[in-house]
Amino acid sequence: MGQKVSSYYVCQQCGYTQIGWAGRCPSCGAWGSLVETVIERAETGTKKKVKREKARPVSLLSVLRKETSRISTKISELDRVLGGGLVPGQVILIAGEPGIGKSTLLLEVAEKLGNVFYVSGEESITQIKLRADRLGLTSKKIKLLEETDIDNVIDVISDFFDPLPKAVIVDSIQTMTTADLGGVSGSVGQVRECAYRLVRYAKAKDVCVFMIGHVTKEGAVAGPAVLMHIVDTVLWFEGDKTTTIRLLRAVKNRFGPTDEVGVFEMQEKGLVSVDNPERHFLSSQKKATPGSIITCLLQGSRPLLTEIQSLVIPSKMAFPKRVAHGIDLSRLELLLAVLQRRCGIPLYEFDCFVNVTGGITIKNDPSSDLAACLSIASAFFDKPLPKNSVAIGEVGLLGDIRKVFGQEKRVKEARRLGYTNIITSDKIKFLQQGIKLYLR
Ligand code: TYD
Ligand code: MG
Repeated sequence: MGQKVSSYYVCQQCGYTQIGWAGRCPSCGAWGSLVETVIERAETGTKKKVKREKARPVSLLSVLRKETSRISTKISELDRVLGGGLVPGQVILIAGEPGIGKSTLLLEVAEKLGNVFYVSGEESITQIKLRADRLGLTSKKIKLLEETDIDNVIDVISDFFDPLPKAVIVDSIQTMTTADLGGVSGSVGQVRECAYRLVRYAKAKDVCVFMIGHVTKEGAVAGPAVLMHIVDTVLWFEGDKTTTIRLLRAVKNRFGPTDEVGVFEMQEKGLVSVDNPERHFLSSQKKATPGSIITCLLQGSRPLLTEIQSLVIPSKMAFPKRVAHGIDLSRLELLLAVLQRRCGIPLYEFDCFVNVTGGITIKNDPSSDLAACLSIASAFFDKPLPKNSVAIGEVGLLGDIRKVFGQEKRVKEARRLGYTNIITSDKIKFLQQGIKLYLR
């Protein structure tokens, strides 16, 4: 580029720049805010006056629509999460805990797409080959490279690929470095700069880039916060490692819906898209049992039937136990309070255990309130709810049942799967009414 590039430390709080690191910013006094940053300087010597072109606004209506053709990854659940496939030049960050299956998923993507460049800074080529053999991959078009220098990676793409690859997979962004910075791999400055360079390349050449990202112990993407801002799409790969089900969630997507969920199963021969997830989230129990009820969650645009189970037993302790798996404990305590006060169930003398089967976690979705309450009440009275029951509704502090977001869709899905007794705010207005109707 003909520009001198030197590394400086820039304060993330106030923008103060200096050569060399310090624990504290000399300007604003913030601790640990100095991050190594590449600063591009114009060539020294004759000072050229740069002539700026005048900017001109355009009318919104006059902007022509650009049709973006999507590239299918041929993995149905991944396409669903991406909103129909990849958009040329899209940069996707896939984050998840170690061992959850990120490398496996992307190797399968490479096989399906063909002409993919897989860069590994984490594993050796032989290790990748072992995985590919395990997955039974046969594509001759996947090209591998063991490299951690991002500039080398970008040079290799330009020099060796004609045509350019359909996608570049970088496993993982935390292992990449650039020689322009002195920091170690994984440091905030390095991760940010490497990601910037990849994004710039992807946009200039319309090549899709998948970056694998590590997560911290607290469950955020490791590295700088800007990482999630500069990519187009952030996919979160999660699941209980003790089960084989893996969920892929879009938490950010510039080219499609967010909150969409793809369901995969980790099998002996890799990750397989699951088209009928109910099979995994409902227990195989066919007979109506006390304490069990089905509810319908909405994961993105997809309704998902899930079973909630409860156990209520007399407590021997001054503070009875409340154990929640898959639902928020404070939400459970609130629902128990409503059941005590509004329905007269003396739960203060009982230990309560509530579990959402299949290892799924209900997050910020009050639609399962009614199901949780009916399940606890059913366990308390030791009486099963009628067979083929599904409960969908939010429970208010007054014990009132409220309609939830996307209710029609959830009800339709439950009917489609053969559930006939659908308990919603259309059927009962108060929780007490429901308990009287079904459990007393
Ligand atoms: P991996 O893709 O290496 O995880 P990540 O890149 O997220 O760290 O997957 C690791 C786990 O997946 C490992 O514990 C073994 C399991 N696995 C299977 O069960 N079946 C398979 O076909 C493969 C390749 C892996
Ligand atoms: Mg990996």
